[in-house]
Amino acid sequence: MSCMDEINSPPAAAALMESTRCIGYSFESALADILDNSISANADNIWIFSNPSSDPFLSIIDDGNGLIRSELIEAMRYGTNPNDSRDENDLGRFGLGLKMASLSQCRCLTVISKTSEGTSSCRWDLDRVIETDQWTLQILSNEEIIDLPYYHHLDSLEHGTLVVWQNLDKLKERAVDVIELMTETLSSCKKHLSLVFHRFMEPRTGGLRIFLNNDKLEPLDPFFTSSTLTASLPEQTVLIQGQKVVVKPYVLPPESKMKPADIEKIGGLQRNLQGFWVYRNKRLIIPGTWFRLSRNKELSKLARVRVDIPNCLDSIWDIDVKKSSASVPVVFQHEFEKVLDKVIEKSESKYKYRGRKVADSKKQFIWDKYTLNGGYRYSINKNHPLVKSCLDSTDGEVRDAVLELIKYVEESVPYNDIFNTMAEAKLAVPETNDDVIEELISKGHRLIEIGFTISDFRITEPFMNYPQVLESLKGYLSEECND
Ligand SMILES: Nc1ncnc2c1ncn2[C@@H]1O[C@H](COP(=O)(O)OP(=O)(O)O)[C@@H](O)[C@H]1O
Ligand SMILES: [Mg+2]
Repeated sequence: MSCMDEINSPPAAAALMESTRCIGYSFESALADILDNSISANADNIWIFSNPSSDPFLSIIDDGNGLIRSELIEAMRYGTNPNDSRDENDLGRFGLGLKMASLSQCRCLTVISKTSEGTSSCRWDLDRVIETDQWTLQILSNEEIIDLPYYHHLDSLEHGTLVVWQNLDKLKERAVDVIELMTETLSSCKKHLSLVFHRFMEPRTGGLRIFLNNDKLEPLDPFFTSSTLTASLPEQTVLIQGQKVVVKPYVLPPESKMKPADIEKIGGLQRNLQGFWVYRNKRLIIPGTWFRLSRNKELSKLARVRVDIPNCLDSIWDIDVKKSSASVPVVFQHEFEKVLDKVIEKSESKYKYRGRKVADSKKQFIWDKYTLNGGYRYSINKNHPLVKSCLDSTDGEVRDAVLELIKYVEESVPYNDIFNTMAEAKLAVPETNDDVIEELISKGHRLIEIGFTISDFRITEPFMNYPQVLESLKGYLSEECND
């Protein structure tokens, strides 16, 4: 018990609200924060509407659970129970996002929510707060909401929430031409949201649908998992304060193997996008960072490591209000380096093993010859780097299917026919054209990305049969060293 005098000293509403507008949200990150709430409210669909005009607005509608009147009033309050333990799927954090993200972009935020109990609506109007210098939350009547942009869309749903941003003063201040800037901003939002929420949008994981002016957004998968050329290493789990952090490394195909459209689809190949991609509850927080791990821990130019952190570890990850930065907690840094060492070791050991086999002068042929019932047969060498990288890039049913196919190929080698053809000296020798060489060179680049050296190529089929390819790869390797 304190014996000194105490008084209540609430913040000056106008000044505080004004200053919280400037914590550095971009339009895109502010919008993503609104979508977080929709996802936490179990929305299957989110519709964003806007009108590039001289006075643009933004309406965000979801078909989530919705809020009843008292919940809505509480949700509009700055700092709604940030310390309540959160549902493990909740994307929220400080109880500020809805208000701060919105008002960082607009002067008037209206939220309308519909449940089976009816529709309610509240508004923060910055000008009214300044006028009263009180936390003056406006409650709108049903007549007052009818004319809000896209209210009819919410009304057509059974439940859901509509967030309306009006008077986008920040955008208007920045613009030479408001319509043009708004159009550009919307297209940049499209890309941002496709990336930040890609794991929610993938059809096999729930299939959240996001529409921007009725265009359906497609997920941007930075790991390009749809390509069979993407390699991955197994997931590693680290326990921090009893909570699982899951790390999964991917190696992208070399640029020469990707179409420009693919590169766009994975969000680009810039160096600053390599490294760790951190997701909090499957929502992307940081695209591409090496944190402060030493440079020699960088796996490769094409390595992207997916890191999944749960929301209950927020405090040690130092998640900021905008959910756009996080730092590696010291407790974790060591753990993280260890995981990384393991990953590197793992990827290297595969090739070291291969090297040892080679030292036994065992070349890496695609076909192995083995003994059976006193005779010989041939099988596909599953340790051959090209076969292995193909197998490593698949898992589950696809991997099983590939293995099965290999088995059928092995079982149906036309030994007799080959024998006869060769006996008649009729076996054709295929022409080596430039395409074959090109193809091999880019396959070689890919193996270099995961640690192949020139001496490995010299004893690996088919590379070892093409001096031209070996020469080019040697050149590429020495460039790599200078890089
Ligand atoms: N679209 C929505 N649907 C349902 N509830 C919402 C929605 N947006 C916000 N809320 C409610 O408002 C609360 C406050 O949101 P916000 O200010 O973003 O803080 P936080 O997300 O950190 O809790 C949320 O916890 C949620 O209960
Ligand atoms: Mg939120």
